[in-house]
Amino acid sequence: MMLMKALVVYYSRTGNTRKVAEQIAMTLGSDIVEIIDLKNRKGIFGFLTAGYSAYSRKLTEIKAPDADPSAYDLLVVGTPIWAGNITPAIRTYLTRIASGGAAKTEYAFFYTSSASGEQKKAYSDFCKLVNKEPLAALSVSRKDLETDNFKLKVQDFAKALSTLKAGS
Ligand SMILES: Cc1cc2nc3c(=O)[nH]c(=O)nc-3n(C[C@H](O)[C@H](O)[C@H](O)COP(=O)(O)O)c2cc1C
Repeated sequence: MMLMKALVVYYSRTGNTRKVAEQIAMTLGSDIVEIIDLKNRKGIFGFLTAGYSAYSRKLTEIKAPDADPSAYDLLVVGTPIWAGNITPAIRTYLTRIASGGAAKTEYAFFYTSSASGEQKKAYSDFCKLVNKEPLAALSVSRKDLETDNFKLKVQDFAKALSTLKAGS
């Protein structure tokens, strides 16, 4: 059985998604890259426009990572939830990838949010952006982060992914 070559790609404004991304990369033994949103998301104005931009599915300017996504079998993509949806930075990244023809790539999706439970809108938007369902999805709440429960969740998520065969 050949394991998939995975890349963790994430955006994080305040560090929560980064924490989960690093835990996933460590568990999978994979590469990891951060997407930078070039728009200023700091302060109250940044907060408000961030929520609005996510809600209205806006794109943004990003600093794209050096890693070539087509060199990987699996992209594990992570975002914070903003106004019930994925962030403009990750939306922009996925839009670029989809138009770049990485059709053979498989995906896994994770997100962090204050609330716990599934974020259906974010999940369905993710599927639309990459034109397929992710192999696995992981939802991490503020409570999961506070209690370290996210580490158990990451373990299950990684286990589901690492049992998949390349090309299957
Ligand atoms: C603009 C904005 C909108 C948010 N909207 C939601 C939301 O709709 N639901 C939710 O549960 N959390 C929401 N949050 C909380 C974040 O999803 C949560 O704090 C996340 O873990 C932040 O990730 P980060 O530290 O990687 O930036 C929002 C945060 C921001 C900044």
